[in-house]
This record gives sequence, structure tokens and C-alpha cells, in this order.
Amino acid sequence: MLNIALPKGRLGDKTYSLFEKIGYKCDELTEDSRKLIFENKEKNIRYLLVKPSDVGIYVEKGAADIGVVGKDILLENVYDIYELLDLNLGICKISVAALSGYKEDTERKLRVATKYVNTAKKYYSSLNRETDIIKLNGSIELAPILGLSDVIVDIVETGNTLKENNLKVINDIEEISARFIANKTSYKFKNEEIKNIEKKLREVI
Ligand code: PRP
Ligand code: MG
Repeated sequence: MLNIALPKGRLGDKTYSLFEKIGYKCDELTEDSRKLIFENKEKNIRYLLVKPSDVGIYVEKGAADIGVVGKDILLENVYDIYELLDLNLGICKISVAALSGYKEDTERKLRVATKYVNTAKKYYSSLNRETDIIKLNGSIELAPILGLSDVIVDIVETGNTLKENNLKVINDIEEISARFIANKTSYKFKNEEIKNIEKKLREVI
């Protein structure tokens, strides 16, 4: 049995379609339900629906043999895993954004709201810019509106969230896409099954 960790949400839906395309269907998965685990007995696989930011840890610890995770999560955390494939899905950027009309005061520490604390720290230290990082877990766009921060570091996909909140991109930090990853031990002992999925995925991306 191969355990596959899929990120719940937008990226998970796209990822599941890809697995469906290569023959790893699970009809139940597309039904509206609160279940988090789905099996395809014939293919001998099991899907685990986990928080996007938890996929890496499931795979590192071997609770999942393989998984799909955004590069944003892999840049933010260090996992002892194999990154096998760029799936060219969930393409977006990690960017710096601020209220339109914002002018930076270079004399003061820059207040940065983000869920990507490490990525933001690394970026600003590369610029030798002093910061106060404010860790948030979501709705980051609210921070500059309420004066909690000067800028935000967050994912921009369509740009709609920024636009609808009167924010604009100041700088792009990284290009992001979904990655197919594997647990190192699983890759050794379930090599044939994992390689087979990897090969099929390569053919459809
Ligand atoms: C993500 C991200 C941005 C938005 C970007 O938020 O943090 O806010 O999507 O997408 P867009 O450019 O297409 O608008 P998400 O919806 O995952 O919610 P959260 O940040 O509150 O977790
Ligand atoms: Mg958001």
C-alpha cells in the first residue's frame, strides 16, 4: 500500500486531477465529504488529505510515502526528502506587496507580515534590510490595511486578492510550483511503484 499525501484546497484539487489522469482514481474523493483518507484497493494506494504546510512532514516521517507540495513550503522549511518532479501546477510567486501609494521609509525597520517567516528573513537579509517580522497564519493582506505592517510577503497567483484589497506587488521573491516528493526510505523499498507513478506523471505534465 502506497500512502499519498495531497494538499487540501486549490492545489490538491489540481493534483488529484493529475493522478486521476494517470489512472489513480478514487471516485469518493471528489464527493462532498469530511473524510480525510481515501483508498483505491485495485491500485493499492491511499490518499491522505493534509494541510498544504503539513505534506512535507508527513512525507519526511514516512506517514506518507509520496506527496505533492508547493515549492513555497519547501523553501520555508527544510525536509529530509527527495524532490522528484516539478509538476508545473499551482504556478504562482512569493512576492512583496504593499498598499498602493506606499513609500518605504528606509530610516526605519521594515515591518513585514507573512506566513513565510524564513523566506522573508532570508530575502531581507540578502538586501541588508532590517525588519520586524510579524508571523500571521492567513488573510495576510489585512496587515498593511490596519497598519500592523508596512508590507506583506505572500503568495500571488491571479493577483485578485491584492487588487480587491487595494494592494500591489513591489517585488517578486521566488517562482513557485507544485513538486512531487518522496520519503527516502520508501523510495528505496517501494522503488518500482514510486518510479512507475513518477514516469506516468512525467508523461502528463
Ligand atoms: C492565498 C495567498 C493569497 C492568495 C493569492 O491565500 O495567501 O492571499 O491566496 O491568490 P490570488 O493572487 O489568486 O488572489 P488563501 O486563499 O490560501 O488564504 P489564506 O492566506 O487566508 O490562508
Ligand atoms: Mg491569503
